[in-house]
Amino acid sequence: MLPASIIAAKRDHRELSPEEIAFFIQGYASGHIPDYQMSALAMAIYLNGMSTQEIACLTSEMLASGTVLKWPSDGIPRVDKHSTGGLGDKTSLILAPILAECGLQNPMLSGRGLGATGGTLDKLEAIPGFRTNLSLQEMTEQTQSIGCVITGASVELAPADRKLYALRDVTATVPSIPLITGSIMSKKLAESLNALVLDVKFGSGAFMKTLEQATALAESLVRTGERMGVRTVALLTDMNQPLGRMCGNAVEVIESIDVLQGGGPDDVRFLTIELCAELLVMTHRATTIEKARAQCAAIIDSGRAWERYCRMVVAQGGNPHATLTVAPATEITAPHSGWIHSMDTEALGLAIISLGGGRRKMGDPIDHSVGLEMLVGVGDRVEQGQPIVRVFSKDAASVKSVILSSITIGDQVPALPLIVRRIDGASVRAQ
Ligand code: URA
Repeated sequence: MLPASIIAAKRDHRELSPEEIAFFIQGYASGHIPDYQMSALAMAIYLNGMSTQEIACLTSEMLASGTVLKWPSDGIPRVDKHSTGGLGDKTSLILAPILAECGLQNPMLSGRGLGATGGTLDKLEAIPGFRTNLSLQEMTEQTQSIGCVITGASVELAPADRKLYALRDVTATVPSIPLITGSIMSKKLAESLNALVLDVKFGSGAFMKTLEQATALAESLVRTGERMGVRTVALLTDMNQPLGRMCGNAVEVIESIDVLQGGGPDDVRFLTIELCAELLVMTHRATTIEKARAQCAAIIDSGRAWERYCRMVVAQGGNPHATLTVAPATEITAPHSGWIHSMDTEALGLAIISLGGGRRKMGDPIDHSVGLEMLVGVGDRVEQGQPIVRVFSKDAASVKSVILSSITIGDQVPALPLIVRRIDGASVRAQ
């Protein structure tokens, strides 16, 4: 087999065989196929797409490039959630302890901020001492002893993705549904899960700007998960405004603690419970979605989710009771009266990056103390001079104009529901 003939086949719209995909991905992972040939194939895939069968083969070859987590046969379901990323998305910090309290185990591999969206690892590192670089052994041990762990992807799991993702980043081939599916699902399948829930976001602050694009990605992810033996459900959620009030790192941990202690914004609590409830039903820990929701709400309201979170943070070297440093606050006020019409959520995320709360390039240090608090949401009435955003930074003046231009005040609009669509194995099989 020759790499060039496989690239030519994809260029000419021919479906690749499982052997060709295996040859290419294993060759790339082992260093026998150079970056320039992998780049050419990635671009051919970006331009011409892949069939369901090809995407499944790509995913399983990327998975096979590394090791997978091993669990004892003890009947305990291992589950996880993946979010495609958005501003203010802190559900992981709340969801993992709830799932553990429900008797499930959640070995969560998380990432760092990507583009304008925050990353769970960066948020957790706002907690003094918290370790996000656990070894595979530490990760599996903590999953079994505490029931949940949130850590960075280890180099042993799906190494082909690590290499390919860096290449896609510099060859303009990131936004390709087959390549995103292979990337996300190879990492999740390496956790050896029984069930997976996906939060696929669409809108101004999401990777996928339209509901149609997000639906196509969700269907590809669910189809691939189910084909590879993992029960998978995707919720399509609105990211035309931040989730919750707080956006940043330390401020998001503080808001997560509020939710874990029974308070916090309704949208964060609602979405977290919905994601947990899907996993409880998929693993037969609840017979209906209503019972699953009630179980999760009771776990939060009894204080058990907060206690489990404290155990997880302590196990990873952090102090859950530490007072987190937050930069001084400055309020930005509405320039005129009206209704909050829309938000450029990506621009708000970029404002946080410019304050130092995210990275411009890999390896940049992060200022965990900066962030934004959204004091209004889409559809709210505001009066001239009313505070609409609180900026936590010594340099708030530098983002005032970008924040004001990213929030449109105009005619009244109905707010979109947070969860717009649900896709499961049955819905993709019915197509
Ligand atoms: N997140 C991933 O892990 N991979 C992608 O390709 C895109 C988003």
